[in-house]
Amino acid sequence: MMRQAGRALPEYRALKEKHSFVEMVKTPELAAEVTLQPIRRFGFDAAILFSDILVVPEAMGQTYRFRETGGIEMDFALRTSEDIARLDTTHVAERLEYMAGALRLVKKSLGGKTALIGFAGSPWTLANFMIEGGGSREWHGAKRMFYDDPALFARLMEKITPAVAACMQVQIEAGAEVVQIFDTLGGLLAPDDFYESSARWIRQIVASVPSTTPVIVFSKGASQWETLVETGANILGVDWTQRLADVRGRLPGNVGVQGNLDPALLAAAPEAAAAATARILESMRGKCGHIFNLGHGVTPDARLESIAAVVETVKNFR
Ligand code: CP3
Repeated sequence: MMRQAGRALPEYRALKEKHSFVEMVKTPELAAEVTLQPIRRFGFDAAILFSDILVVPEAMGQTYRFRETGGIEMDFALRTSEDIARLDTTHVAERLEYMAGALRLVKKSLGGKTALIGFAGSPWTLANFMIEGGGSREWHGAKRMFYDDPALFARLMEKITPAVAACMQVQIEAGAEVVQIFDTLGGLLAPDDFYESSARWIRQIVASVPSTTPVIVFSKGASQWETLVETGANILGVDWTQRLADVRGRLPGNVGVQGNLDPALLAAAPEAAAAATARILESMRGKCGHIFNLGHGVTPDARLESIAAVVETVKNFR
């Protein structure tokens, strides 16, 4: 799996000439096609649905768009308790029916040969986007609410968390075999706040997923492995700033690790990307429970030949 691999692919860019990002996400045929593009080109072992974490806020009534100049813009920002009261959590599953449609199409095309991964944002990460009304440099809005008005923050999280759980349920019913929770902004938190602001809500979502579906939790920049294990995740994503083998050594044997090539290596020469990949694989030799992946998403400047070199190195590793 290489998330956001689309941006580096000419076939994705060609589709984007004709359709907006949100239109592609919401049209099952287009979302399925974009999901399959990197699989056809590179033959990954797993496909991740083409969608976005912001589909959950949208299903609660807070729409978003992707600016052509880059960045995310939502149609309003959550500022007051009235804004939060207006979020409508009653129709989330119906409003995400297009996701189920895309997943069913992808599942049929994959024919059981490639694993299919669904995903959603963590409540903490979504709250940040929703309170800012898009991306931000400092991400102070959600923290301000958490510190100044913990009861209001909890009310918001009590709306987002079941909505995320509903989204995962839609995906699992439509054929996702694994689900991943992106806690992309988890690393912004001070250690003493991490459980209360992020991990406890992730834990509720993990608990809602049937035990037959593995859950991957990726908390970027996080290092509180004990707290992350407490979420109940089956697999923890690890970014590239940590030594994967060290993290592996700190986790119980029944929790796997996923990672952790620096995505910058995909913008470097194929030889460098292959060598760094081999180093990670070698460091994990003989250790249990490792899924090779990037330490974060693919960047638009990734080189196709470097992605191919990484895949080949993984497939040929003995
Ligand atoms: O490979 C895939 O297509 C997987 C699907 C996927 C997307 N977004 C599609 C996408 C996934 C898993 C995401 C997750 C996501 N979306 C996160 C968590 C990411 C992580 O790895 O931690 C976040 C924070 C978002 C919200 C979002 N969507 C951002 C911040 C951006 C980038 C905005 C920018 O200025 O570049 C997006 C856009 C987006 N989502 C793209 C894709 C393929 C890029 C669209 C494009 O450039 O055409």
